[in-house]
Amino acid sequence: MMLIVGAGVAGLSCAIAAARAGVEATLVTPGVLRPSADAGLAALAGGNTAMAQGGIAAAVGEDDTAADHAADTVAAGAGLVDPRAAHVLTAEGAEAMRAMLAGGFPADRDASGRLSLGLEAAHRRARIVHAGEDRTGAALHAFLAREVLEFVRRGLIRLTERTSLDSLLTDSGAVSGAVLRDAAGHRVTVRAGAVVLATGGYAALYPRTSNHAGARGEGIVQAAHAGAVVADLEFVQFHPTVLAGTGFLISEAVRGAGAVLRDGSGERFMTAVHAAAELAPRDVVARTMHRVLRQRGEDAVWLDATGIEVAGGSGTLARRFPSITAATRAQGFDWTREPVPVAPAAHYTMGGVATDLEARTTVPGLFAAGEVASTGVHGANRLASNSLLEGLVFGARAGRAAADYLDAGGSGAGSWANDTGMLAELSAAASVFEEVPVTVADPSWDLAPTGADARGPNSQIAAVSELSAVSAAVAAGLGIERDATGIDAVRRDCASLPGHAAQLATMVAQSAASRTESRGAHQRADHPATDPAQAVRQGWVARSTPHRSAGDDHRAQFATPLRSLAAC
Ligand code: SIN
Repeated sequence: MMLIVGAGVAGLSCAIAAARAGVEATLVTPGVLRPSADAGLAALAGGNTAMAQGGIAAAVGEDDTAADHAADTVAAGAGLVDPRAAHVLTAEGAEAMRAMLAGGFPADRDASGRLSLGLEAAHRRARIVHAGEDRTGAALHAFLAREVLEFVRRGLIRLTERTSLDSLLTDSGAVSGAVLRDAAGHRVTVRAGAVVLATGGYAALYPRTSNHAGARGEGIVQAAHAGAVVADLEFVQFHPTVLAGTGFLISEAVRGAGAVLRDGSGERFMTAVHAAAELAPRDVVARTMHRVLRQRGEDAVWLDATGIEVAGGSGTLARRFPSITAATRAQGFDWTREPVPVAPAAHYTMGGVATDLEARTTVPGLFAAGEVASTGVHGANRLASNSLLEGLVFGARAGRAAADYLDAGGSGAGSWANDTGMLAELSAAASVFEEVPVTVADPSWDLAPTGADARGPNSQIAAVSELSAVSAAVAAGLGIERDATGIDAVRRDCASLPGHAAQLATMVAQSAASRTESRGAHQRADHPATDPAQAVRQGWVARSTPHRSAGDDHRAQFATPLRSLAAC
């Protein structure tokens, strides 16, 4: 049985691929996928996918090629993109998009029926497919969910709602199932020959975030506990334009359509920094804003979209960006006539569970896709609107690879253990990391539990206060600009805290401490230059636990020299 955890774009794409491959699959989501009156639970299932605005980057325009899209992806990633992964993403992504369009995906079109493609930062041409104008994620989620629910109706996928991942089970170094937790805290052990993590990233560890509250990296921590290599955790992307005082994103597509950024004196500041001005790579814009805010002692800069309304005529902004128009209005702004205050917020995490191109992790039977994974496509800075595409492409790849793994009896070709390439690089890189002291108050994978959460009635209150302590620590020490003192403070502050968020923050800090250079989204005030010698993907292996000694053997076979990916 294939267990798929998470029902965003990657989980849904995986489930569809599994059903098409004819394997038994169970899809688990903390929310509800079936139509429901409970908007909160529906939002939990959609997660960050359903919140995405700008769109899906795909080389489907007449003058576009997957090679150009791959080149932009590699350039944005600041030397750390794996070109093989970028090739897979862009070539299969364009195919997947064409198939979706042929299957009725409701992409926005102009009056003549041609796809209306948006422009976003660091893309050399307009290639952003959008739907419902600025509600692309919701349209994509609904489109995929419809197909999944049809498979559920036909008995080809089992759907378990209101349920989350608690921990992974391993047996002789391979994943053998998971402990799941329902909304009431009851736990259940599920045996599965293959587990696919599609649980999202960890940008919601930060107090200022554009993300869904559930994006706290639980899947990454549990994968690490199961012995998986994780990589690139130091790379956290801050989106430049989140409406100040809210978590509401103002899509980069707005700048793509002509909006500009101004400081408190009304001056544009990006023109002096980068030839592409407001459409410079996202890390450059966020960093510049951070410096402007610090120099001026202000909390927000100003996004001026009034020129779009002037150029396009009255009603242009409301027509092209209906959600953003409503959100700005709700905050008391008329963005057709005045600039709106924006500030950077944590938006996307490039790092995660290291996978090969088939979404296989370093633990046999464990697969990862979407933001939880580190496939190598994003490097040090993700190109705008590549994330939904990644979920589509690598979610489907995960479903097919996990099906192959199950067909092969859970051994052999399905496991990255037999792939000598990238795994060797990552495992060797892992040796530069210190072991992180993992405080596990509740090593639930050692239990064979069924029953209520045993942590007592105050556990939720304690969890909330731990989470806010972790949030404060990462905001202070792992923000847009970091240095050794701040990073060490995160390690110190989180070391005494229980819970997976503190463990993850410690791992992120460990990764940030180890990268003694500035690159992409990782900007070190104490190491401002980029060091070509560090153009490698970093890896980190979880602390071994006594009951997983076989997993240690599994990792030991990959101690071969690190191959630099500087050529990217
Ligand atoms: C946006 O619409 O600006 C966000 C798109 C993305 O994060 O890629």
